[in-house]
Amino acid sequence: MNTLVIGSQWGDEGKGKVIDFLTETADFVVRSQGGSNAGHTVIAAGKKYVLHLVPSGILWPGKVNVIANGVVINPTMLVEEIRGLQQQGVTITPQNLLISDRAHVVLPIHKQIDAAQEEALGEHKIGTTKQGIGPTYADKARRIGIRMADFIDPKHLVEVLTVRIKTANEELVRLGWPAADPQETLEAVMAAADVLRPHITNTIPVLNEAVKAGKNILFEGAQGAMLDIDFGTYPFVTSSNTSAGGCCTGSGVAPTRIDRTIGVCKAYTTRVGEGPFATEDAEIADYLHGLGREFGATTGRPRRCGWTDGVVLRFSAMFNGFDEMAMTNLDGLDHMKTIKICTAYKMGDQILSYPPALMSDWAKCEPIYEELPGWQQDTTGCTAWEQLPEACRAYVKRFGEVVGCPVSSVGVGPDREQTIPTGLV
Ligand code: GDP
Ligand code: IMO
Ligand code: MG
Repeated sequence: MNTLVIGSQWGDEGKGKVIDFLTETADFVVRSQGGSNAGHTVIAAGKKYVLHLVPSGILWPGKVNVIANGVVINPTMLVEEIRGLQQQGVTITPQNLLISDRAHVVLPIHKQIDAAQEEALGEHKIGTTKQGIGPTYADKARRIGIRMADFIDPKHLVEVLTVRIKTANEELVRLGWPAADPQETLEAVMAAADVLRPHITNTIPVLNEAVKAGKNILFEGAQGAMLDIDFGTYPFVTSSNTSAGGCCTGSGVAPTRIDRTIGVCKAYTTRVGEGPFATEDAEIADYLHGLGREFGATTGRPRRCGWTDGVVLRFSAMFNGFDEMAMTNLDGLDHMKTIKICTAYKMGDQILSYPPALMSDWAKCEPIYEELPGWQQDTTGCTAWEQLPEACRAYVKRFGEVVGCPVSSVGVGPDREQTIPTGLV
């Protein structure tokens, strides 16, 4: 059984927690796109882990974790993350963490180029995580990137790095930023390469042989569908295909081998960075921030917050082919008197069921809301669907109807145990 777990909104839906919950029955956990722009929080046995590049399956013993070809890897950050997890008592070996030889490398200079590009955009900035993601995928598309395969032979690596550091520095200088120290950059990458080398392999046959042997593979999506470079709120998107298709191109496991696709969604909506957000609401943002919730796992930025956007979710469920939705953070709505769901947008005299493409059209979209009664009751101790208040269950059902996809589980707290199957699938 091969399962895709995809963020259905603008990221931070709680994919880490859902993956962790599903890993128990998985053999492999695979990251297939994005990079250290991702921040996946898992709380297990009261301990908090934030994963950026390492698949969340690393927290379970006996699982094989794969950073596949579609991911862009910052080698120094990956080494730092591995070390940090090891300090937290997590076992990481070349047997339980495999890195694709086809994955592209984020250089420290890519991060600086990212920051320089954002600065140049001024008030039109994307609000990136400044992890060098866009510049690295741009190099991949321009066919000038460095890949993990280049790490295998140190002599060869020095040659390719020397050339690439020079051209990347030229780009940085063109953007008006000072060049990075070439020797320092080279040494940092070479040192990380020594640590990562034993993990690098051709992961495509490994995964396909696992499929053949009937193993269970879990694909850990990063970011969210509306940050997808094709389907998202372009240009306010990330630089990879965050949707279901990206799991296949990013891993070499064919679409014909995928059995189940789960969309992870919050019971409300959040977004970090710039870009359209029709259901954004200051009151719900203040309320959630006041509870100490909704601060970014990667950048610490307060997340923008709003009501459930059925237009976005309906679109997302369509182009991802979701079989079911895993809802998280339902407890975030526990004390709301009334709860709103956006069912459509009003754009001038048109009613839209799906998001527009143009930014100028987004600016004209007004959400059309349906209001439901809140349950005003703490749900964090509930362990079964029947224990949830009636109004709460009615909200979850209505949510599924608006999106056109049933909700199969709800989260009522960040802990591993706080996931409740709904029986709706
Ligand atoms: P990801 O990037 O999709 O893995 O999500 P993040 O980890 O960036 O953000 C999700 C946040 O919600 C984290 O702080 C999680 O610990 C938290 N979380 C996930 N599910 C629940 C839930 O059901 N209830 C509560 N209260 N928090 C949750
Ligand atoms: P996870 O996996 C939320 C957003 C950034 C910015 C846009 C482009 O934790 O859900 P980038 O650095 O990728 O070029 O930034 O995408 N973004 C995320 N937002 N969660 C993420 O990952 C994100 N990764 C990127 O805030 O708006
Ligand atoms: Mg996150």
